[in-house]
This record gives sequence, structure tokens and C-alpha cells, in this order.
Amino acid sequence: MRHPRAATFAAALLLLLAACEREQRRFAEIAPSSSRPPDSRPSVVNPYEENAWAVSEGQRLYTWFNCRGCHAMGGGGMGPALMDDAWIYGAEPQAVFTSIAEGRPNGMPAFGQKLPAQQVWQLVAYVRSLGALTRKDVRPGRTDTMQARPAPVMTTPATPVQRP
Ligand code: HEC
Repeated sequence: MRHPRAATFAAALLLLLAACEREQRRFAEIAPSSSRPPDSRPSVVNPYEENAWAVSEGQRLYTWFNCRGCHAMGGGGMGPALMDDAWIYGAEPQAVFTSIAEGRPNGMPAFGQKLPAQQVWQLVAYVRSLGALTRKDVRPGRTDTMQARPAPVMTTPATPVQRP
């Protein structure tokens, strides 16, 4: 090769660029879907699950939109727990998206009219991080409140089961 140094530099740069995904802050982005994804499609990928900033935005929205009022910090209250392995409507990103955007019949309000799809996907990423269903290095390392449970980064992965 004529420029071995240049090649090494280019390779290092590529590696660096690839490593930055977790830390990227994408302020304008087209969400994976701007409408309701069908529950039957298992392959919807939520790019926010790879991005620490988006997950912490989801964490902020979780408090702002008072998800805590019903689900507490994930352990559940009047609404079901979101950090355990039992899911009524499914743990897949698109099922969680539908739960949040359209609401569910037994008391889950619809947030689709209040939030753009992008922020619903950030909530999806955060909710799934509560059950350790997302990449560990992207899960929030701390919360701004008293911690009643270990931070999501400390959680062991759950195996989701769907109950009737
Ligand atoms: C007024 C209380 C209330 C609020 C506020 C609320 N939820 Fe819920 N949520 C519920 C209830 C009750 C259910 C169960 C609904 C059912 O069984 O049909 C539920 C279900 C869910 C589910 C589906 C869980 C499963 O097991 O499949 C998700 C995900 C969820 N909520 C997320 C959120 C998020 C995120 C927010 C905030 C943006 C939020 N909820 C705000 C009461 C609430």
C-alpha cells in the first residue's frame, strides 16, 4: 500500500464514527414510523434504543407526562409494572408504541395526540430500558429522584412473556 499511515488513519476514523452512535444527539429525525405500526409486524426497529440521549429524553418525558402517576418508577401502581417480565400487550417496540400512542382499554390514556411520534418512540426506548430489554450501555445510569430501585443500567435482562 502506498500510504499505510493514511489507511490506518481512515480505519481509526471509521471506528470512531461507528462508536459515536450511542452518544449522538439527533434533534431532527424521522421516527421509525409516524403512524401506528401494526402489532403483527415484529421487525420494527426503534433507532432510539441505540442512543443514550434519546433514552434519557424518554426518561424526562416519562415524568413530564406523569406516567409515574400510574406506573410509578416502573414498578407499577394503578397501572401495570413496566420493569417486570409480564406484558399484557407485548414488549416489542411497536406494541409498546401502540400502548402509549393509542392507549389501552383498561385505563391507559392515549398520548398520540399530545406527543409527536418521535417523542413516543423515545418513551418506548425508555420504557423498554426499564425491563432491561435494550442495550446496557445505552440505559440511563441515574435518575433525578430518590432511587427505589437500581438504575436501568444495573438491571438484569428480563425475558418477556405475554399474559392473556
Ligand atoms: C391514568 C393512569 C395511567 C397513566 C397516566 C399512564 N398509564 Fe400506562 N397504563 C395504565 C393502565 C391501567 C394500563 C393497563 C391497560 C390495560 O390493561 O388495558 C397501562 C398500560 C400501559 C402499557 C402496556 C403495558 C403492558 O403490560 O403491555 C404501557 C407500555 C404503558 N402503559 C406506558 C405508559 C407510559 C409511557 C405513560 C406516560 C406517557 C403511561 N403509561 C401513562 C395507566 C396509566
